[in-house]
Amino acid sequence: MSNTPSTPAVADADVWSQGPTVAVVGAYGHTGRFVVAELLRRGATPLLVGRDRGKLDALRGLAPDAPVRVASTEDAASLDRALDGAVAVVNCAGPFLVTSLPVVDAALRAGIPYLDVAAEQGVTAALFDTYGDRARDAGVVVAPSLAFYGGLGDLLATAALGEWPDADEITLAYGLDSWHPTQGTRLTGESNAGQHLVHSGGGLRPFDYSQDVFSWDFPKPFGTQDASAFATADQVTLPRHVRTPEVRAVMNLAPLRDVRAARTPEPVPADADGRSAQTFVVEAVVRRGEETRRAVAGGRDIYAVTAPLVVEALERVLDGRCATPGVRAAGEAFDAADFLRALTPGHLTRLDLPV
Ligand SMILES: NC(=O)c1ccc[n+]([C@@H]2O[C@H](COP(=O)([O-])OP(=O)(O)OC[C@H]3O[C@@H](n4cnc5c(N)ncnc54)[C@H](OP(=O)(O)O)[C@@H]3O)[C@@H](O)[C@H]2O)c1
Repeated sequence: MSNTPSTPAVADADVWSQGPTVAVVGAYGHTGRFVVAELLRRGATPLLVGRDRGKLDALRGLAPDAPVRVASTEDAASLDRALDGAVAVVNCAGPFLVTSLPVVDAALRAGIPYLDVAAEQGVTAALFDTYGDRARDAGVVVAPSLAFYGGLGDLLATAALGEWPDADEITLAYGLDSWHPTQGTRLTGESNAGQHLVHSGGGLRPFDYSQDVFSWDFPKPFGTQDASAFATADQVTLPRHVRTPEVRAVMNLAPLRDVRAARTPEPVPADADGRSAQTFVVEAVVRRGEETRRAVAGGRDIYAVTAPLVVEALERVLDGRCATPGVRAAGEAFDAADFLRALTPGHLTRLDLPV
């Protein structure tokens, strides 16, 4: 299926002012709704894609004029029809183990950029390993894990590195006051069980589930807390563009206990934008020899902040600030410090970058 002429053959600095049509797969999910709202806020036309007509129609309250397309990730022709006329696709339907490859394939057939919010390390690694040449040959940007887990840590570490081309170690510290998981997070956690990875000794290795507890000094207001090792998509994306043998991630114990407890409720809206009351801080520490550099970001609601991360990336892909086709990590594709500043203070209430 060919795409309509609304697809820019090359990045176009004016495309955003024309209200581009952007397909959102999984539009009625918790994260998908934040993405739809962010697209509307920036003047784009979200094209609502999902497998349930009733749930798509129920999005009318959020996006009354948005076109709606029913499609299944098991039916390539339905995806082709769904993407027809879109200038890009943002995939918010998870588990990505199931949805990622069919939607990337459809994006490549349509010749349009693909971005997703996958937290699953193996899925993102597979995209880098198996789609790099195809995306390049198709002239298409594929940007996985442009989300709280994945994009944010990658951008912070890249901004902390500055002109350093490599690092002896990168540490990402995640402090969350709580973590009320969505159904999608729970399903993804179940389908991804036992698949977690760490980048250590210069390559991806199985995550050590022993869960040793140690004390970690998080940026204020979190301070010193019990923490343990964690596995995030940033550990997959960072080594794709930064030479480093070690990328480790740590998280304080409170959110880990929340997300593992069956009785922890789903997030509930606590402000006019639908964000929950959850707060977070993420610190990237990069070490080269004896020297370290840091970058810190803080904000509210890890699901909500994913929307401006992926839509900011989309805006930069469409207007030519990332025009290099291929599978791209956030810090590789964009000017990391400029990207993070663009989200501050509206979406990131705190941003400390090296001067
Ligand atoms: N990396 C990050 O920081 C980050 C941040 C936010 C979200 N995420 C990921 O994003 C995904 C969605 O999370 P969420 O919080 O939005 O969950 P959610 O509210 O449960 O929404 C999940 C969405 O995915 C759709 N979906 C699931 N399986 C599908 C399939 N096989 N085919 C088509 N659509 C399918 C669902 O549609 P149905 O209702 O029809 O099943 C729904 O629209 C999860 O994998 C989560 O881990 C990652």
